[in-house]
Amino acid sequence: MSDFNKLDNEYILLTGGAGYIGSAISFFLLNNKKKIIIVDNLSKSNNVNLEKLPNKDNLIFINVDCCDYNQMNKIFEQYKIFTIIHLAGYKAVSESIEYPIIYYENNIVSSINIIKLASIYKVKKFIFSSSCTVYGNQLSPLVEETYTGFGITNPYGMSKYMIETMIKDFALVNRSIQIIILRYFNPVGSVNKGQIIENPKDIPNNLIPVVLRNYINKTPIFIFGKDYNTIDGTPARDYIHIEDLALGHIKAIDYENNYNNLSIFNLGTGKSYTVLEVLKTFEKVNNVSLNYKFVDRRPGDLENVYCDPQKSYNVLGWKASRGLEEMCDFTYLI
Ligand code: WQD
Repeated sequence: MSDFNKLDNEYILLTGGAGYIGSAISFFLLNNKKKIIIVDNLSKSNNVNLEKLPNKDNLIFINVDCCDYNQMNKIFEQYKIFTIIHLAGYKAVSESIEYPIIYYENNIVSSINIIKLASIYKVKKFIFSSSCTVYGNQLSPLVEETYTGFGITNPYGMSKYMIETMIKDFALVNRSIQIIILRYFNPVGSVNKGQIIENPKDIPNNLIPVVLRNYINKTPIFIFGKDYNTIDGTPARDYIHIEDLALGHIKAIDYENNYNNLSIFNLGTGKSYTVLEVLKTFEKVNNVSLNYKFVDRRPGDLENVYCDPQKSYNVLGWKASRGLEEMCDFTYLI
């Protein structure tokens, strides 16, 4: 651990900050000269994105597992943490179906630790990285008031729902902490033209990393199902550019609600695209030809998921502005 001790300074802590979303948020925070601490055990990501971050004098990286309460406590003892963005967690839907207990243990224990420490050390703001999966299998567009917890199709989504429930109960008795739950739809693309990309350590599961890996390796991309009730039979998602998603967090950091200490926002575009639309856009933008094959549906996949982002616009003043072509632009990499 760094011996850099500045108790007179206030830090933003990003748990799981070395991952795709965490390093994208860190990029904008560091560009804005904020002081940040990234805690990450690098179990699912590597340090490639960390190395590419700007203004690294303002960054402290600590390799600790958020499930280790004692190590986390030491960090809170050493640094004055003003804001927490809690991103640490496993996030692959299909892997969570295969290893449910590992998912529940990792995502829930780490969250309990962070929530406890936020309370003990009187953190002012707590932003939780949640997911559209908490809405389960319900008809889109999904608004923040849509019922959650019903028809969730996988342990990953259920773990996010359980953490949201804990956070809501905690918020009722800890009025001095501002809590914001952000429900992400499907983040894709890169930050600053390839500077930060989704770069999983293991075999990728998400569509764009799969496309990139298979394009580079010249192996086929499997499209999971072609019999959904969508325009071309392939499932549709609300893909959101990672820069837009990261900027949603910057808005959340600045947001103050004097009437209610818990707020929930969707981070999505409000429009969905099918897998085939994404692949065709990818081919067009990057001027490549992809090799894909249709296979059976993937367990737990839903047909068509998209949000209503109006509340985020009205209340946070945030709106996604980058379209599908920008999300699929990897010309600087391939
Ligand atoms: C997208 C589409 C697949 C891979 C994600 C995240 C999860 C959560 C919700 C925020 C689906 C299809 C994919 C492949 C394919 N986000 N696909 N072949 O399942 O929507 O879940 O959003 O919390 O963290 O994982 O995303 O990128 O895996 O799939 O055909 O090899 O691409 O069927 O329709 P998904 P995804």
